[in-house]
Amino acid sequence: MALQIDWYSYWETQWYDARKVYEQMHSVIVENIPADRDTPLCVMDVGGGSGTLIRRILETFPRSTAVYVDKLAYPELKKEVVEQMLGGFADKVAFLWNDFGSEGWDVEITGPLDVIVSNRAIHHLEDHGKQQLYRQIFGHLRPGGVFLLGEEVKIRSERWVGAFQNHRIESARRAHRRREEFAKEAALIGAMYHRVYREPEKSANKWAFLDQQLQWLADAGFTDIQTLWQFYDNVVIGAYKPE
Ligand SMILES: C[S@@+](CC[C@H](N)C(=O)[O-])C[C@H]1O[C@@H](n2cnc3c(N)ncnc32)[C@H](O)[C@@H]1O
Repeated sequence: MALQIDWYSYWETQWYDARKVYEQMHSVIVENIPADRDTPLCVMDVGGGSGTLIRRILETFPRSTAVYVDKLAYPELKKEVVEQMLGGFADKVAFLWNDFGSEGWDVEITGPLDVIVSNRAIHHLEDHGKQQLYRQIFGHLRPGGVFLLGEEVKIRSERWVGAFQNHRIESARRAHRRREEFAKEAALIGAMYHRVYREPEKSANKWAFLDQQLQWLADAGFTDIQTLWQFYDNVVIGAYKPE
């Protein structure tokens, strides 16, 4: 199988706006790292996927180093894909091929980190797992460090859930030129929303409400917690560890 390194295009095969959404979430995360280009930051990406976000961070802050954490949950995502994406930065990235919901996933992390990022990954944990991970992330940050979290979130209003689902389905219609491909994708999107809201125990996506996530971050000790960006049910949150 050819190495799939254009992760944005990969997501775009599922719904057209996915490329836009991923690019924007990564941009908001990178733009909100409070440092000059020459600052040597220690950064961690929790659920780093293809490595696209770490690569953008290391390009933006070239004196920085990074810890990449991911258990490679998708069959398309292989170590070679990530290593190719981060090929130019091999000496700057430490790879932890771990499950961030498992006991001791973080024992190898030494020293406090300046910045921790995570994009669309932590929602695969149950709520108690998310809360524990937020506490662990807090523990790994230096005082004054920032956590930038991109996530998919649940919405309380049935009306808006329907509207958001329809938006993704319309977006899939634009992504697929062939009618059968669109029908398959639309069914997958419908099933995903159904499971998230109606059968959460069967869903791999354990989305939580935005206000819950903000509260859990506060409970973990974070301060200056702010929603920085939102597009339908996708958000980016910033939160600081007090000095
Ligand atoms: C939707 S992808 C997002 C990837 C990347 N953050 C990005 O923005 O392109 C979710 C990633 O989280 C990883 N992941 C999900 N659950 C995980 C877990 N419990 N431990 C480690 N990685 C996990 C998956 O392997 C996948 O790479």
